Amino acid sequence: MNIMIINGPNLNLLGRREPEIYGSNSFEAYLDELRKKMPDVNIDYYQSNIEGELINKMQEVGFTYDGIVLNAGAYTHTSIALQDCIRSLKAPVVEVHISNVHKREEFRHKSMISCACLGVICGFGLDSYRLAIEGIIFNS
Ligand code: DQA
Repeated sequence: MNIMIINGPNLNLLGRREPEIYGSNSFEAYLDELRKKMPDVNIDYYQSNIEGELINKMQEVGFTYDGIVLNAGAYTHTSIALQDCIRSLKAPVVEVHISNVHKREEFRHKSMISCACLGVICGFGLDSYRLAIEGIIFNS
């Protein structure tokens, strides 16, 4: 099983960015643990702060991988281009958020991409990514 995790803007700063919300682990350290926990799954990882680069990566893997786990960061709340991209792909996409966006500011309650995704996981810290992969496996 091939899974691509894609992180959007500012998620390269995990561990340093608002640790009271996003925790103090770097994503790279979490990814090492995750790969050990799921030895049967090939987990690739991409991060970009640029909307078009996220779309390029999704188009690149979206017809061959078994699933995409996408934390689009703030683009979640604004990007019709990401929604259109997700709709165009063969691979299922699971929307992920580290924080529970529904407990936070109102502008984070609206997602432009949920309607195109297989499912949504939020609020479980970095473990949201593992839960999303479990969801893809369960659904395949
Ligand atoms: C986030 C939530 C978004 O509202 C925010 O813009 C992020 C991170 C999360 O993982 O909790 O950048 O997607």
